[in-house]
Amino acid sequence: MRLRGRKGIREDIERQKELVVLNAKDYKGKWAELFGNNNPIHAELGMGKGRFISEMSKKYPDINFIGVDMYDELIRKASEKAKIAHDVKTEEESESAPSIPNLKLMLFNIEHIEEAFAEGELERVYLNFSDPWPKKKHARRRLTHPGFVAKYQQILNAKGEIHLKTDSQSLFEFSLNSFADMGLRMRNISLNLHADGFHPDHVMTEYETKFATQGMNIHRCEVVIGQDALAAHLDQLSNAKAE
Ligand SMILES: C[S@@+](CC[C@H](N)C(=O)[O-])C[C@H]1O[C@@H](n2cnc3c(N)ncnc32)[C@H](O)[C@@H]1O
Repeated sequence: MRLRGRKGIREDIERQKELVVLNAKDYKGKWAELFGNNNPIHAELGMGKGRFISEMSKKYPDINFIGVDMYDELIRKASEKAKIAHDVKTEEESESAPSIPNLKLMLFNIEHIEEAFAEGELERVYLNFSDPWPKKKHARRRLTHPGFVAKYQQILNAKGEIHLKTDSQSLFEFSLNSFADMGLRMRNISLNLHADGFHPDHVMTEYETKFATQGMNIHRCEVVIGQDALAAHLDQLSNAKAE
C-alpha cells in the first residue's frame, strides 16, 4: 500500500495539471479558454470527495464542471473518483492529456470565490450538504448567508441558478430566509426529496447517500438568479396557469 503524507498528497495533486487547478485566480475570466469551448460552466462549491461532480461531468458532456474544495486530500480523493467515473486508466494518461475535458477540480476557499471567477462566468452553483454551522455566532460562515449569495449573484450569468440540497432543517430554513430577504425567486422546493424513493436520474452526493440511507429527509430548492432564468420561470408559471 502506498502511504502518502501531506507533502505526498500535494505532490500528487500538483502532478495532475490537466484536472486539478491550484492557481484558480489566474483563470478569472479565462475558464472558457481553459476548457477550450464556450459551454456553460457549473460549479459545486464544497464538493467533498467528488462523487457528484464526477458523475455529473460524465452524464452531461456538453457542460463544463468545476468541483471546489479547500483541502488537498479531498481534491486528491475527488481526482481518483473522477478518473474511475470517466474510465481514465493510468496516472500517466490523466497527467499528460485532457482525458476528462469537461471537468476541473479547484483547490480554493469559497470565501474568496469572486477572485476566481469573473462576472457572469458561471451558469450554475451547486451547494450540496454545505456545513450547517449551527451556532448563531457562525451564521456568516454558512454558504447561503447573504454575504455569500451576493458573490454568487455576481459570478452567475443571465441563465444563472443556485441548486441547494441539505439534510439540515436549520440550514434549509436559514437559506430560504436568506434568499427571500434578497428578493430572489425559489422553485421546486422539497422537504423530502426522496419521499417516493431514489429517482434513477438523480445524481447523489456522498453525504446524501449517507443521510438518506439513515432515513433522514433531504431538503432541496432551486434559486433563480439571472434575468433569462427568471423570464423563463415566469413564462412557465403563466403557461401552467393558462392550461
Ligand atoms: C459536508 S461536506 C459535503 C461534501 C459534498 N458536497 C457532499 O454532499 O457529499 C462540505 C464540504 O465543503 C467544503 N467546504 C466548506 N467550506 C468551504 C470553503 N470555505 N471553501 C472550500 N470548501 C469548503 C468542506 O471541505 C467539505 O468537503
